[in-house]
Amino acid sequence: MATFHSLLGFCVFILSITTLISSFGNVTAVPRTPYTAPAVYRPSPWTHAHATFYGDESAASTMGGACGYGNVVTNGYGTDTAALSSTIFIDGYACGQCYQIRCVESPWCSKGIATITATNLCPPNWSQDSNAGGWCNPPRTHFDMAKPAFMQIAQWKAGIVPVMYRRVPCVRKGGIRFSFQGNGYWLLVYVMNVGGAGDISQMWVKGTKTAWISMSHNWGASYQAFATLKGQALSFKITSYTTKQTIVANNVAPANWNLGLTYQALTNFH
Ligand SMILES: *[C@@H]1O[C@H](CO)[C@@H](O)[C@H](O)[C@H]1NC(C)=O
Ligand SMILES: *[C@@H]1O[C@H](CO)[C@@H](O)[C@H](O)[C@H]1NC(C)=O
Repeated sequence: MATFHSLLGFCVFILSITTLISSFGNVTAVPRTPYTAPAVYRPSPWTHAHATFYGDESAASTMGGACGYGNVVTNGYGTDTAALSSTIFIDGYACGQCYQIRCVESPWCSKGIATITATNLCPPNWSQDSNAGGWCNPPRTHFDMAKPAFMQIAQWKAGIVPVMYRRVPCVRKGGIRFSFQGNGYWLLVYVMNVGGAGDISQMWVKGTKTAWISMSHNWGASYQAFATLKGQALSFKITSYTTKQTIVANNVAPANWNLGLTYQALTNFH
C-alpha cells in the first residue's frame, strides 16, 4: 500500500512537472517511458588545431548557422559556439557536438578553456591560400569561434592562434527538443539540446498508426520524413553519430501537434 501511494505521488509529481513545462511558450512535453542509458560519452584525447573568431561580442552573426539552430541563444546554446571547418563539420553530422578549446604556443594566449557547441560551418575559401587566410580549407581542422568564446582563450588581436582541442560530453538540461517544420506531407524536424556526444547519425519517427519511418538527413541538424502524420502522437528514435547508441523518445508530440512548434522529450543522451 505504501508503495502504491508513493507511486501515485510520483505520478502526480510528473504531471505537475509536465504542466509546468507546457506553460513555457511553445515547448511542450509529454511524460513517457523513463530513459535507460547504458553508455556515457567520454572526452577524447587533446589534439592540435587552429582557431580564429567571427562576429563581435554580441555573437549576433552566429545566429542562423549551418546547423539550423536558428537563434542559438534562445535555443539554449548561448554564445559559446563555433563554426567548424568542413573536415570536422562532416556535412552537418558534427552539429551539436561539444568541444573544449585552449590556446597554445602564442603570446596572445590566456589560460582559459572554452567549451563550445558546434553550430555552424566555416566554409573553404579557395581564393585564399590554406596557410594564409584559407584557414577552413580542407584538410585543415579549424574552429572559427564566436568572439565571446574566443576571448576566453586568447586576446582577439591575435587573429589566429594554435589550439589544443578535445571532444567533451554535452551537458544539456532536460530532454532532446524537436522543432517541427514542413507541411502536411513533409515533416522536417530540427533536433536540439542533444546531450552526451551531442550528434545524430540516424533518426526515425512513428505515429500512433504507423510503423517506424526512417527519416533522411536534410541539412545541419534536421531530419525529414515524407509522410502524413497529422493527428497522430509522434515518437522518435535517434542514433548518436559518435557512440551509435540509440534511444527512443515515446510520444514526444501529442496528436494535436503543429508545425512551427517545439516539443521536448524526457529522454536524452549523457
Ligand atoms: C574569399 O577570399 C577572398 C580573398 O581574400 C575574399 O575577397 C572573399 O570575400 C572571400 N569569400 C568569402 C565567401 O568569404
Ligand atoms: C510560438 O509559435 C508562434 C506561432 O508558430 C510564434 O509566432 C511564436 O513566436 C512562438 N513563440 C516562441 C516563444 O517560440
